[in-house]
Order: sequence, then C-alpha cells, then structure tokens
Amino acid sequence: MATQITAGTSELRDITKMERIGAHSHVRGLGLDDRLEPRENSQGMVGQGKARKAAGMILRMVQEGRIAGRAILFAGPPSTGKTAIALGMAQTLGQDVPFTMIAASEVFSLSMSKTEALTQAIRRSIGVRIREETEIIEGEVVEIQIDRSLTGATKTGKLTIKTTDMETIYDLGTKMIDALSKEKVLAGDVIIIDKTSGKVSKLGRSFTRSRDYDAMGADTKFVQCPEGEIQKRKEVVHTVSLHEIDVINSRTQGFLALFAGDTGEIKPELREQINTKVAEWREEGKAEIIPGVLFIDEVHMLDIECFSFLNRALENELSPLVIMASNRGMSRIRGTNVRSPHGLPVDLLDRVLIVSTRPYSEEEIQQIIQIRCEEEDVTLTSDSLNVLTSMASSTTLRYALNLISCAQMISRKRKAEQVSVEDLRRAYTYFMDEKRSVQWLKEQQGSLVFEEISVSTTAENGDAAMKDAMET
Ligand SMILES: Nc1ncnc2c1ncn2[C@@H]1O[C@H](COP(=O)(O)OP(=O)(O)OP(=O)(O)O)[C@@H](O)[C@H]1O
Ligand SMILES: [Mg+2]
Repeated sequence: MATQITAGTSELRDITKMERIGAHSHVRGLGLDDRLEPRENSQGMVGQGKARKAAGMILRMVQEGRIAGRAILFAGPPSTGKTAIALGMAQTLGQDVPFTMIAASEVFSLSMSKTEALTQAIRRSIGVRIREETEIIEGEVVEIQIDRSLTGATKTGKLTIKTTDMETIYDLGTKMIDALSKEKVLAGDVIIIDKTSGKVSKLGRSFTRSRDYDAMGADTKFVQCPEGEIQKRKEVVHTVSLHEIDVINSRTQGFLALFAGDTGEIKPELREQINTKVAEWREEGKAEIIPGVLFIDEVHMLDIECFSFLNRALENELSPLVIMASNRGMSRIRGTNVRSPHGLPVDLLDRVLIVSTRPYSEEEIQQIIQIRCEEEDVTLTSDSLNVLTSMASSTTLRYALNLISCAQMISRKRKAEQVSVEDLRRAYTYFMDEKRSVQWLKEQQGSLVFEEISVSTTAENGDAAMKDAMET
C-alpha cells in the first residue's frame, strides 16, 4: 500500500486559487521596507507599526524555513487590524508557501470531529515541493486533421507535429481532440503536450508563419520552432500540501473531493503512511518540506479539547507556524468554568509569543477610510471625509467603513459624483451602530421577543455546566 502513494500533482495543477474580495481587499501586503521597518502608509496598511513589524519578522523566519511549531497570538480590541495584518502576511508569503485561514468556529460546524478538522487545517498548511520528471511532446503543429463519425459522437484524427530536425504523426482520440480545440490550436502554433496528463499548452506562433495572416491580434506571441527531439523529458517542480496528498490517496474520496470540499475523515494509518512516504522522498532528494502558516481567527471560540490538541500538535515535527487572533480580555475558556487571559488556557499562552494591537488615532482612521474609498471607487468631499472620521471615532471603524458604500448609494440617487455630508447623515439615520441599537432596545423594553435572559457571569457558567452535562 505504501508504495502506491502518489502526490497526484498532474490533477492538482489545474486547481485555481480564488481571490477573496471584501472587507480586506485593499490589503496587499504588510507595507514594510527591506529592513522590515513599517512604512507610514503602504500596500493598503496604515499605522499599527509595532504589530506589522513583528509580523514581518515572523514572516522572515518562515521564509527562511527555520521556524516550525511556533505560535503567535495577535491580541487587541475589535477592528484594530488583527485579521487585516494576517491577510497582509498571506499576501507577502507568495504562491509557494501555504497559508491556511480558518475561523475557530469552523472547527465545530464541519461534519467531522474537532480534532480531525484541526488536523486537516494543520496539514493544509504544510507544503511539499516535489520534483518530477515528465515526458512531454513539444513542437510546431504542421497539420491537424479531424474526422467526425456520421453521428458526430466519436471523433478521430491525426496531428502532424515537427521540430527543426524531425516530423511525426500522432493518432488523436476524442479526449486529445477536445483538449486541442479548447486551446484553439491551429497549424503554425508551437505547443507542449504533457504525456501523463494530456494537458495541452500553447507557447505561441511559429516565426515562420509570421507573414501568413494580415489580421492577427497585437498580442500574438511569436516563438522559434523547437529544435531536437519531439519527445523530451522535462523536470517540473510543484508544491502540494500534505492535506491534498491525504485526500488524493484516501480510497473513498479521490481528488474530486478537493473541489467539493467534502473530504470527510481521513484515517490516521493513511496519514502515517504518507508521512513515511514523504520522508522517503525527502531522503531521495525528490521532495522538500515547506512549513507554512495556519491562521486561526477568533481563537477564543475553540474549546479546551482543541487547545490541548493544539498544544501537542505544536510539538510535532511536521507542524506549521500557528498564528491566532483574539479580541477577548479575561474570558471563560470554552468548555470549562475557568477564566483566563484572551480566553486561552495558560499552558498554551505560555508557548505563544503575544503581539498586541492598539486602537487607531484619528489620523490613522482617516487614512484607512481614504484607502477604502479608493478601493470601493467612492469619492468623498473633504468635509464628508472629516465627518466620517469623527463618526468612526464616536462609533466604530467598521461601522464607518460600512457607511461608505451606503452613502454612495444615496449620492448616486441624486446623480452626484461625490458623497456629501448630507448623504452621510442620511446613511447614518438609516443604519444604526451598536451603541444606538442598544439605546433603542432600552427604549423598546418589553416589546421584543425573548428578552428576559440577563447575560451575567453566573448565566455563562451555568451555560458551560449545562453543555458539559449534555456532552457526558
Ligand atoms: N492598519 C490598517 N490599515 C488598513 N486597513 C485596516 C487596518 N487595520 C484595520 N483595517 C481595516 O479595518 C477593518 C477592521 O479590521 P479587522 O477586521 O482586521 O479587525 P480585527 O482586529 O480582526 O477585529 P475583530 O477582533 O473584531 O476580528 C477591516 O476592513 C480592515 O481591513
Ligand atoms: Mg478579525
């Protein structure tokens, strides 16, 4: 069984990564210079210099591959940029180093045990860089001839391909014909066909054909007709995560499960075999381990079992750098009656380096608002920028950022280019912030449903006791 383990890389190469758009889409990095000093306003980041610098130092260590099995905690009040900094780190890491982001509550909502969900997240954050030799066919297409059967159901054909030294004819089946037509391959194109996966990629048009057509797009790329043999061996390097290797080799799932995200539980024996296999590949020089980063947002939502699991997992040799974020002060550790700083048990806190984030100054808030306006393509008058800034100071930064697009809607209705103070005022009356909502609730006392339960520490403790009782 162990010998059958594959990295399944030919299938994986096609999976494209999705870019997130939303609250943090303006963040393009940490905004540090080469000496890791934070620039005042760069890559979408403003202020929070110390935390950004700390994040940069950690990244440097990750990139050098020296740090594994360490943990960092970003602690600070809500909307002080903890998530934003973590995303900035992800952007800086680059394509090859895996960065996994989960919210702690996800661990409970998946159809698998908590520890399995954490294990999967951890293994997703460890990359394996694999060197593979593949056979390719490379040359200039001389002719493609396709014969359709009468019903049109089956297709056969012939592909004539050449290099400067030789010319060969290949028989084509339906799958190859589809792949070629998907890439719109024509005679005169220089192409590469991966023999194992059948993937076709177009390098460009051959120089010899540059005078054939008058009407050719300006972006047509011309390349030389390749030399030498048509069939070649080529070394390719790609990175997959340990989790992807797990899923591909778990017999019930197969790689399609990666698209569905529905991977189910993976047997520990399989993981062990994979670890052994990867260790073998490392010794043979075929593979290299790239420890990445696992970011657990809202980490106080994990419970005591998850924390003790993390404690142990951090000591494992194949462990990523774990970054956590929490906006809690002294609070109850989920699953216990114990209160602890940031809602994390002290033994875990002892192992982490803590980076604190602090509330923003008015000037910094103004800059963040400006950045968001550029991102959302909204123009504020200078007055309304000042008003929105003071709104942010009296409510919250998040509320102010949310108002930007609402106010724009209102200004558009009166066909204005810029958002005026009046637009902001109206948005402010349409949407309440937390403080006003609490005030409103007080005024409405008694007329809403289910109001009786008072939130107090005793209730919280009772809640925990009840949960424990239900679990046993
Ligand atoms: N230094 C910064 N530069 C630019 N934008 C920022 C900065 N800090 C925060 N923001 C933006 O402000 C908003 C709130 O920040 P963020 O979500 O990172 O807060 P948080 O610390 O994670 O809060 P919570 O504890 O509530 O999760 C986001 O849209 C974020 O992109
Ligand atoms: Mg956050």
